[in-house]
Amino acid sequence: MKEISVSELQLNPMTMIAKDWMLVTAGNAQRGFNTMTASWGHLGSIWGHGGGLPTAVVYLRPQRYTKEFVDREELFTITVFPEEYRKALGYLGSHSGRDGDKVAESGLTPVFEGEYTYFAEAKLTLVCRKLYRAPIVPEGFLDQSIIDAYYPQRDFHDMYIGEIIKVLVQD
Ligand SMILES: Cc1cc2nc3c(=O)[nH]c(=O)nc-3n(C[C@H](O)[C@H](O)[C@H](O)COP(=O)(O)O)c2cc1C
Repeated sequence: MKEISVSELQLNPMTMIAKDWMLVTAGNAQRGFNTMTASWGHLGSIWGHGGGLPTAVVYLRPQRYTKEFVDREELFTITVFPEEYRKALGYLGSHSGRDGDKVAESGLTPVFEGEYTYFAEAKLTLVCRKLYRAPIVPEGFLDQSIIDAYYPQRDFHDMYIGEIIKVLVQD
Protein backbone atom coordinates (compact mmCIF):
# COMPACT_ATOMS: atom_id res chain seq x y z
CA MET A 1 0.00 0.00 0.00
CA LYS A 2 1.19 3.52 -0.63
CA GLU A 3 0.12 6.69 1.09
CA ILE A 4 -1.58 9.48 -0.88
CA SER A 5 -3.12 12.78 0.21
CA VAL A 6 -6.89 13.18 0.55
CA SER A 7 -6.84 15.64 -2.34
CA GLU A 8 -5.58 12.87 -4.63
CA LEU A 9 -8.53 10.59 -3.84
CA GLN A 10 -10.61 9.66 -6.86
CA LEU A 11 -13.89 8.14 -5.72
CA ASN A 12 -17.65 8.43 -5.68
CA PRO A 13 -18.69 8.29 -2.00
CA MET A 14 -22.28 7.40 -2.94
CA THR A 15 -21.40 4.22 -4.77
CA MET A 16 -18.37 3.42 -2.66
CA ILE A 17 -20.26 3.33 0.63
CA ALA A 18 -23.74 2.23 -0.39
CA LYS A 19 -22.94 -0.19 -3.20
CA ASP A 20 -19.37 -1.42 -2.69
CA TRP A 21 -19.65 -1.41 1.13
CA MET A 22 -16.77 -0.93 3.56
CA LEU A 23 -15.31 -2.48 6.67
CA VAL A 24 -15.16 -0.47 9.86
CA THR A 25 -12.32 -1.77 12.03
CA ALA A 26 -10.87 -0.75 15.39
CA GLY A 27 -8.24 -2.14 17.70
CA ASN A 28 -4.77 -3.54 17.20
CA ALA A 29 -2.65 -6.65 17.70
CA GLN A 30 -2.00 -6.05 21.40
CA ARG A 31 -5.47 -5.06 22.54
CA GLY A 32 -7.41 -7.12 20.01
CA PHE A 33 -9.51 -5.81 17.13
CA ASN A 34 -12.85 -6.33 15.46
CA THR A 35 -14.40 -5.43 12.15
CA MET A 36 -17.83 -5.22 10.54
CA THR A 37 -19.35 -4.40 7.19
CA ALA A 38 -21.07 -1.03 6.82
CA SER A 39 -23.00 0.57 3.97
CA TRP A 40 -24.23 3.68 5.71
CA GLY A 41 -21.81 6.57 6.13
CA HIS A 42 -20.55 9.82 4.70
CA LEU A 43 -17.35 11.45 3.51
CA GLY A 44 -16.85 15.20 3.54
CA SER A 45 -15.45 18.10 5.47
CA ILE A 46 -16.20 20.03 8.66
CA TRP A 47 -14.50 22.12 11.36
CA GLY A 48 -11.63 23.82 9.62
CA HIS A 49 -10.89 27.09 7.92
CA GLY A 50 -10.59 27.16 4.14
CA GLY A 51 -12.30 23.87 3.43
CA GLY A 52 -12.59 22.02 6.71
CA LEU A 53 -11.10 18.83 8.02
CA PRO A 54 -11.47 15.79 5.77
CA THR A 55 -13.82 13.56 7.67
CA ALA A 56 -15.67 10.26 7.51
CA VAL A 57 -18.89 9.46 9.36
CA VAL A 58 -19.94 5.94 10.31
CA TYR A 59 -23.10 4.74 12.04
CA LEU A 60 -22.97 1.84 14.48
CA ARG A 61 -25.91 0.17 16.18
CA PRO A 62 -25.47 -0.44 19.93
CA GLN A 63 -25.40 -4.24 19.63
CA ARG A 64 -22.38 -4.34 17.28
CA TYR A 65 -19.30 -5.87 18.90
CA THR A 66 -17.20 -3.57 16.72
CA LYS A 67 -18.75 -0.62 18.54
CA GLU A 68 -16.98 -1.66 21.76
CA PHE A 69 -13.65 -1.38 19.93
CA VAL A 70 -14.50 1.90 18.22
CA ASP A 71 -15.58 3.33 21.59
CA ARG A 72 -12.37 2.17 23.25
CA GLU A 73 -9.85 3.20 20.60
CA GLU A 74 -8.78 6.63 19.41
CA LEU A 75 -8.55 5.47 15.78
CA PHE A 76 -10.67 3.40 13.44
CA THR A 77 -10.19 2.43 9.81
CA ILE A 78 -12.47 2.28 6.82
CA THR A 79 -11.42 -0.22 4.16
CA VAL A 80 -12.85 -0.72 0.68
CA PHE A 81 -12.27 -3.84 -1.43
CA PRO A 82 -12.27 -5.05 -5.02
CA GLU A 83 -15.49 -6.80 -6.04
CA GLU A 84 -13.94 -10.27 -5.63
CA TYR A 85 -14.11 -9.83 -1.83
CA ARG A 86 -17.88 -9.24 -1.74
CA LYS A 87 -18.45 -12.66 -0.17
CA ALA A 88 -15.98 -11.90 2.64
CA LEU A 89 -17.74 -8.60 3.33
CA GLY A 90 -21.08 -10.39 3.38
CA TYR A 91 -19.70 -12.82 5.94
CA LEU A 92 -18.26 -10.08 8.15
CA GLY A 93 -21.61 -8.29 7.97
CA SER A 94 -23.65 -11.29 9.06
CA HIS A 95 -21.49 -12.79 11.81
CA SER A 96 -20.36 -11.25 15.07
CA GLY A 97 -16.81 -11.26 16.38
CA ARG A 98 -18.39 -12.17 19.71
CA ASP A 99 -19.11 -15.65 18.38
CA GLY A 100 -15.73 -16.61 16.93
CA ASP A 101 -12.80 -15.60 14.74
CA LYS A 102 -14.83 -14.28 11.83
CA VAL A 103 -11.86 -12.53 10.25
CA ALA A 104 -10.04 -15.87 9.86
CA GLU A 105 -13.25 -17.35 8.40
CA SER A 106 -13.56 -14.49 5.92
CA GLY A 107 -10.10 -15.17 4.48
CA LEU A 108 -9.02 -11.52 4.73
CA THR A 109 -5.55 -10.68 6.05
CA PRO A 110 -5.39 -8.15 8.88
CA VAL A 111 -2.43 -5.78 8.83
CA PHE A 112 -1.53 -4.42 12.27
CA GLU A 113 0.03 -1.00 12.17
CA GLY A 114 0.61 0.50 15.61
CA GLU A 115 -2.73 1.69 16.92
CA TYR A 116 -4.88 0.59 13.99
CA THR A 117 -5.66 -2.37 11.76
CA TYR A 118 -6.49 -2.60 8.08
CA PHE A 119 -6.55 -5.40 5.51
CA ALA A 120 -3.95 -6.41 2.93
CA GLU A 121 -6.66 -7.01 0.28
CA ALA A 122 -8.19 -3.52 0.60
CA LYS A 123 -7.87 -1.22 -2.39
CA LEU A 124 -8.39 1.80 -0.15
CA THR A 125 -7.82 2.40 3.56
CA LEU A 126 -8.85 5.54 5.42
CA VAL A 127 -7.35 5.87 8.90
CA CYS A 128 -9.65 8.01 11.02
CA ARG A 129 -9.18 9.75 14.36
CA LYS A 130 -12.38 10.03 16.36
CA LEU A 131 -13.56 13.61 16.79
CA TYR A 132 -17.20 13.27 17.73
CA ARG A 133 -19.76 10.68 18.77
CA ALA A 134 -23.47 11.29 19.14
CA PRO A 135 -26.53 9.10 19.37
CA ILE A 136 -29.24 9.28 16.73
CA VAL A 137 -32.26 10.28 18.81
CA PRO A 138 -35.95 9.73 17.93
CA GLU A 139 -36.77 13.41 18.61
CA GLY A 140 -34.40 14.41 15.83
CA PHE A 141 -36.35 12.78 13.00
CA LEU A 142 -38.18 15.29 10.85
CA ASP A 143 -39.49 12.35 8.85
CA GLN A 144 -40.81 10.08 11.58
CA SER A 145 -41.53 7.27 9.12
CA ILE A 146 -37.79 6.47 9.15
CA ILE A 147 -38.11 5.32 12.76
CA ASP A 148 -40.62 2.58 12.00
CA ALA A 149 -38.84 1.61 8.79
CA TYR A 150 -35.31 1.33 10.18
CA TYR A 151 -35.64 1.17 13.96
CA PRO A 152 -38.46 -1.26 14.80
CA GLN A 153 -36.41 -2.30 17.83
CA ARG A 154 -35.50 1.32 18.64
CA ASP A 155 -31.79 0.40 18.38
CA PHE A 156 -30.69 3.82 17.21
CA HIS A 157 -27.18 4.16 15.83
CA ASP A 158 -24.38 6.16 17.34
CA MET A 159 -22.70 8.31 14.73
CA TYR A 160 -18.94 8.82 14.76
CA ILE A 161 -17.17 11.61 12.93
CA GLY A 162 -13.52 10.78 12.32
CA GLU A 163 -10.81 12.99 10.87
CA ILE A 164 -9.15 11.20 7.96
CA ILE A 165 -5.49 11.29 8.99
CA LYS A 166 -4.06 8.83 6.46
CA VAL A 167 -5.09 7.47 3.05
CA LEU A 168 -3.55 4.25 1.75
CA VAL A 169 -4.12 2.79 -1.72
CA GLN A 170 -2.81 -0.28 -3.52
CA ASP A 171 0.45 0.34 -5.39
C1 LIG B 1 -24.12 -4.72 3.50
C2 LIG B 1 -24.17 -4.52 4.99
C3 LIG B 1 -24.15 -3.23 5.50
C4 LIG B 1 -24.21 -2.99 6.88
N1 LIG B 1 -24.15 -1.71 7.36
C5 LIG B 1 -24.16 -1.49 8.69
C6 LIG B 1 -24.03 -0.16 9.21
O1 LIG B 1 -23.82 0.82 8.47
N2 LIG B 1 -24.12 0.02 10.56
C7 LIG B 1 -24.31 -1.05 11.42
O2 LIG B 1 -24.38 -0.84 12.64
N3 LIG B 1 -24.39 -2.32 10.96
C8 LIG B 1 -24.31 -2.57 9.63
N4 LIG B 1 -24.35 -3.85 9.14
C9 LIG B 1 -24.48 -4.97 10.09
C10 LIG B 1 -23.15 -5.43 10.71
O3 LIG B 1 -22.12 -5.51 9.74
C11 LIG B 1 -23.37 -6.84 11.33
O4 LIG B 1 -24.36 -6.78 12.34
C12 LIG B 1 -22.10 -7.48 11.85
O5 LIG B 1 -22.35 -8.87 12.02
C13 LIG B 1 -21.64 -6.89 13.16
O6 LIG B 1 -20.49 -7.59 13.58
P1 LIG B 1 -19.84 -7.42 15.03
O7 LIG B 1 -20.88 -7.81 16.05
O8 LIG B 1 -18.67 -8.36 15.01
O9 LIG B 1 -19.45 -5.99 15.17
C14 LIG B 1 -24.30 -4.10 7.77
C15 LIG B 1 -24.32 -5.41 7.25
C16 LIG B 1 -24.25 -5.62 5.87
C17 LIG B 1 -24.24 -7.03 5.34
